[in-house]
Amino acid sequence: MSASASPTPRRFVAQGPLKGTIRVPGDKSISHRSIMLGALALGETRVTGLLEGEDVMSTAAAMRAMGATITKTDSGEWVIQGVGVGGLLQPETALDMGNSGTSTRLLMGLVSSHAITATFIGDASLSKRPMGRVIDPLSTMGADFTSTEGRLPLTMRGASPAVPITYRLPVASAQVKSAVLLAGLNTAGVTTVIEPVPTRDHSERMLKGFGANLTAETNEAGERVIRIHGPAELTGQTIEVPGDPSSAAFFIVAALIVPGSDVLIENVGLNDTRAGIITVLRQMGGSIEEVNPRIVGGEPVADLRVRHSALHGINVDPAIVPSMVDEFPVLFVAAAHAAGRTICTGLEELRVKESDRITVMRVALELAGAKVAETEDGMIIDGTGGAPLPAGAAEAVATHLDHRIAMSMAVAGIASEGGVLVDDTSPIRTSFPNFEALMDGLVA
Ligand code: S3P
Repeated sequence: MSASASPTPRRFVAQGPLKGTIRVPGDKSISHRSIMLGALALGETRVTGLLEGEDVMSTAAAMRAMGATITKTDSGEWVIQGVGVGGLLQPETALDMGNSGTSTRLLMGLVSSHAITATFIGDASLSKRPMGRVIDPLSTMGADFTSTEGRLPLTMRGASPAVPITYRLPVASAQVKSAVLLAGLNTAGVTTVIEPVPTRDHSERMLKGFGANLTAETNEAGERVIRIHGPAELTGQTIEVPGDPSSAAFFIVAALIVPGSDVLIENVGLNDTRAGIITVLRQMGGSIEEVNPRIVGGEPVADLRVRHSALHGINVDPAIVPSMVDEFPVLFVAAAHAAGRTICTGLEELRVKESDRITVMRVALELAGAKVAETEDGMIIDGTGGAPLPAGAAEAVATHLDHRIAMSMAVAGIASEGGVLVDDTSPIRTSFPNFEALMDGLVA
């Protein structure tokens, strides 16, 4: 599937340096989790800075369908009245997950230890993505699934009581980790997840913040061992969601590659398990300065001052991949402007994101005139050494319902000579509804 029902094409063209101050929307991962845990807690949860993208709204709609009350106040704060762990109600209709893998996998975990049956449906992109990675551990806990080859549409009959398990993650995935931990909330006993490679830890932080008995330690083999004791009782919290580093990444790269740019991006979450893109761009010579470091909602945050820089190619350490797994499409754009060769490996997970982000970005960047070669698990990019990509093709870049492809190629477009035509900007609404407005404001 390469387009939504009513695609919105746009040609992104160079409009001079990016200058000014922006604030990106709330972190998507933290926003999903605040709705889910608020909906499971006893009492009221208040959330400020929530990302109001379509993915998070899919989570909110599902939690409402299972009994939670979720409203937005006039001041922009979100208020959630939870049902209590174990208190989810049988949804009357299928849960529509839209484009959102995070909603799907985390909610499958949540529902799997409740005595309800739920059907999950999604768009063409989501319906291609593998759910076997959560079906496997949740089946071991006792849930029952009907699906075609582990894809959506999928029906789950939750287990009551569910059985606690010890599960070693076969793929580095925060979604799978979180699904098992969330299933453990309503499972009597200790549910354990062993994580050979650390992934984003927002679930662990927030579960503790809501009062769950959760421990995380590193074992002798260097693996993270996370234990949750169920059934848990969660209590409503007040949460301030920091800005999303994955959204900030588009503006960081744009400012680095468009000559003359100098941009301040306020309130960017810099959790170690998410900030790999900043490390890598600095290794490539990028000028990214952290201003006013502080803690927001239990997460490290700073304002980032980013200035146009002469980038050079590097070998990206595959160990850093989990902390920037969503940022590779835009890193490829940065690398296409660097001097010399950038080699990325260990990216097999990119092939099962909203699109196959290796092939789709290879095709898109080639269309824009970049020198890129695809490997089984990565990409090799020979950069221009700072010169703009020629771009200017009449043919549109195909985004395949993938917001991060659309935004990455928008960045490529504003740094190019001839502009980049993106076939459909509507998927951007899933994670960053005001992306185009912010970009247009900076280049005006
Ligand atoms: C997410 C985890 C990552 C990431 C996704 C959000 C999360 O997925 O790509 O955008 O919120 O847990 P994986 O768990 O598949 O790596």
